[in-house]
Amino acid sequence: MPDHNYLYSFNYDYHLHEICKLESRQIFSSEIKDKLLFSNIQVDPSISAFIKNRLDIISSSKDFNDLLETIKGKDLRLNGFNVEYISLNGDTTDRSERRKKIKAIGYCIYGYPEFKAPSVTYATCQYAGLWYFGILTKHENDWYKHKKKPHSFSNSIDMEIAKTLVSIASKGDKTNTLLDACCGVGTVLLEACCAGFSIAGCDISPKAAKYSRLNLAHYQYNARVYCTDIEDHPITYDAAIIDLPYNIYAVSDEETTRNIIHSSAKLASRLVIVSIIDIQSVIEEAGLKIHDSCSVVKKGKSTFTRKVWVCEKETSTLLGD
Ligand SMILES: C[S@@+](CC[C@H](N)C(=O)[O-])C[C@H]1O[C@@H](n2cnc3c(N)ncnc32)[C@H](O)[C@@H]1O
Repeated sequence: MPDHNYLYSFNYDYHLHEICKLESRQIFSSEIKDKLLFSNIQVDPSISAFIKNRLDIISSSKDFNDLLETIKGKDLRLNGFNVEYISLNGDTTDRSERRKKIKAIGYCIYGYPEFKAPSVTYATCQYAGLWYFGILTKHENDWYKHKKKPHSFSNSIDMEIAKTLVSIASKGDKTNTLLDACCGVGTVLLEACCAGFSIAGCDISPKAAKYSRLNLAHYQYNARVYCTDIEDHPITYDAAIIDLPYNIYAVSDEETTRNIIHSSAKLASRLVIVSIIDIQSVIEEAGLKIHDSCSVVKKGKSTFTRKVWVCEKETSTLLGD
């Protein structure tokens, strides 16, 4: 029996390497290596911008022919299955050899295959001298449609980072309720809704709140957007995401930053904050402990760097406690 139940494979642009590692530490308590990760924690690959596949491992073996024997021994009987080959980092198996392996596995399963709309997709792959066989769950790309959201500001956060803030805040658990405390035009809200999370947005600016609502309506998502200072927001959540204002379209000074962080800390015990300056002292002043952090350099020629802070309250002092 393999040591882990799941094998996740990842892909990302080089500039997102650090935030991808932060995500894997927060969801799996373990860092990715060679763009893959073994874990006993099950998450939907589509909650992450970086997880491409999840293999639910059924068996593994040093020798591919032995793997075939164990598959035969499972006596898998079903119609409508498909088999795929996942090429992991460092696997140089050529195309014709991969096809042969897929075919060999297909012959170990009793039933008719279905290539276009399979009911189950099995997969095989090799890593570090072991062959794996299991059930494949693929990443759904439908969130790419948000690239064409109707309304955007120049201070809107990148989609991949927005999606990652959601997965980090929720730790991949869709039962956690989320708040985007400074939602702008709703980039984070769109990613959360698309991945099936329960989220609400808040923004002090009527224009931002209006565009957020229009963006959500465009994709028929129904997250609530409150147009208010976060200081006056009355509802508590499991986690809050804060993309702090930084003087583009919105006022930003130490007092504003302090107000937003202190107010959000009263609404959620877990905060994921994005800043362009060092805010460690403000975070600690709000009674939060910094659990993890990373820097994200903006893609392209600019030297614009964001810092992502993962913070939690030491003891619960939420509204109404
Ligand atoms: C950097 S922008 C957020 C951008 C957003 N993530 C997006 O992708 O569109 C910061 C937002 O914080 C809002 N804001 C500033 N002070 C606030 C406060 N006290 N309460 C709620 N929102 C506030 C601003 O109006 C601005 O829309």
